[in-house]
Amino acid sequence: MTRRPDGALLPKGLPDTAIIETAPAKINLALHVTGQRADGYHLLDSLVTFARDGDRLTMARSPTDQFSVSGRFSALIPTEAQAGPAGNLVLKARDLLRQALTERGVATPPVAIHLEKNLPIASGIGGGSADAAAALRGLSRLWDHAMPEADLQALGLRLGADVPMCLRSTPLRATGIGEDMSLLDTLPAFALVLGNPLKGVSTPEIFRRLSSKSNPPIGDLPEIADRTQWLDTLSNLRNDLEPPARALCTEIAVLASMMEHAGARLVRMSGSGATCFGLFDDMDAARHAAAGLLKQRPDWYFHATETMGGAYS
Ligand code: C5P
Repeated sequence: MTRRPDGALLPKGLPDTAIIETAPAKINLALHVTGQRADGYHLLDSLVTFARDGDRLTMARSPTDQFSVSGRFSALIPTEAQAGPAGNLVLKARDLLRQALTERGVATPPVAIHLEKNLPIASGIGGGSADAAAALRGLSRLWDHAMPEADLQALGLRLGADVPMCLRSTPLRATGIGEDMSLLDTLPAFALVLGNPLKGVSTPEIFRRLSSKSNPPIGDLPEIADRTQWLDTLSNLRNDLEPPARALCTEIAVLASMMEHAGARLVRMSGSGATCFGLFDDMDAARHAAAGLLKQRPDWYFHATETMGGAYS
């Protein structure tokens, strides 16, 4: 790593002009599965927020296309863009954006992309989708072409149902398969602990095991609410993917109960799991809890962080 004049850390070999994009962890505060489309994708009603930290992408012009990876979970990252779930979503995003821009007559010279993989893989906090979204944002800047937002969103959706929300990376309510979004401007920031037993969970497998595909939607939300009222609201909501995920990955129940004992005000699973989050009163409480949890299970992942608040929170 080298440090550039503005203090940002750069992977070795990337120039000071490199573009840095955070890929914030996505957290489903609630996730109701309300139906299924003819193509098999499930209809959702989800309250989504984002952590202030996550993975980190650095992108710069380069003589040839390059990709490198570092970070705690880098060993599990595929380095090819091949089709199918095994392909690297960052490289797929690069190739898809390049194709779309080339069709518009925009030059897309070679790029070096470095991914710092800090988030556990296949863990329900959108790591791969957040990385793809960060690549779309960063490469749009590097190639100096801002596509209309709707076009970029459509491109993101081709990479995964969660990519459009990760492009926004701000508190929102997502419906459809995740692509219809309305911003939750009054959602407050939450101090939380993310926990994961470091067992990957397959999203299609969890959706397949869902016993009921048409559950009640989230319903009306308070227009203006303080943190306590939001906690009340959230405590009446659910993640419908939690029961099938708990059946498949028994560690989730253990993890959730550890977080409850650590003093979390509310514990839920995010996405299709296995990551659970616990909401705490403040960052001191979250950090203290994360340290205690890590002592109990040093082989698991625990991370204290804060979520972003909505624009008017
Ligand atoms: O879109 P993404 O590739 O992230 O989704 C992975 C898989 O999860 C899909 O192939 C589908 O089986 C399932 N899925 C779903 N309904 C959604 C999102 C994902 O059934 N809304």
